Amino acid sequence: MSLAIHPITELPAHLLHDNKTPEAYRNYETAPRDCVKELYQLNHANQTLDLVLAKKAEYTPLNKAEMSIWEAMDFLNNFVDDSDPDLALPQIIHALQTGEAIRKNGHPRWFILTGFIHDLGKMLCMWDEPQWAVVGDTNPVGCAFSDKIVYSEFFANNPDSKNPQLNTKYGIYEPNCGLDNVHLSWGHDEYLYHVVKDYLPEEALWMIRYHSCYVVHQAGEYTHLLNERDHEMLNWVKAFNPFDLYSKVEETPNFEDYRAYYEDLVAEFFPPKLKW
Ligand SMILES: [Fe+2]
Ligand SMILES: [Fe+2]
Repeated sequence: MSLAIHPITELPAHLLHDNKTPEAYRNYETAPRDCVKELYQLNHANQTLDLVLAKKAEYTPLNKAEMSIWEAMDFLNNFVDDSDPDLALPQIIHALQTGEAIRKNGHPRWFILTGFIHDLGKMLCMWDEPQWAVVGDTNPVGCAFSDKIVYSEFFANNPDSKNPQLNTKYGIYEPNCGLDNVHLSWGHDEYLYHVVKDYLPEEALWMIRYHSCYVVHQAGEYTHLLNERDHEMLNWVKAFNPFDLYSKVEETPNFEDYRAYYEDLVAEFFPPKLKW
């Protein structure tokens, strides 16, 4: 599989709409929606190592439901992500905008599909999970919280930040143990990774599993926990990121115009029903 990786400075012009520059996205200082800050306040206070382990035990056996990709999409149609400073539109629009931005760049079908489904794990809200346990950036837990994480000041309210076994540089981890062995705060990335891991190429799985971990893939923190392979595979996450971020524009495509294409694409990779 080969892929031209676009650094942010070489973003295709059509991804930057409404005169919005790359710096204008993910601006948490001037976030126009109050719910963004409130969400991170709850997220950072409650996402402890114990919480993450409990959520993994509850959800990763995938014994909640058998559902098609489209049934999950239908649920997301009525969902607005409170953590997103750039977009207050239903998720189906974000799915389509991301998929189409990737398609316009001539990337392979698995990559377009990854863009289209990357946030489907947000259907965790279907089981009454609060948004702070579903959306927003993710970060390693079980070791010190980096001050490069958005709204890092709110970790003062997280009991792990006062636990001497968990608040050191390495915490519960060995040096360079690999991202696969690091527990990230629980949310839609890790959940969807488990749902789709048997059906998509490894590069796609990295994009899905780590796309919200900005503190690692953009801020470059926690390198002391990464191994060589992580550095290589994180390039795929970085390649995906601009399509996730800069395709968020207010102008909304009509999904019906694209339905046939995406139905074909989903059927090419996924069985009619998946375990959730
Ligand atoms: Fe996401
Ligand atoms: Fe997204």
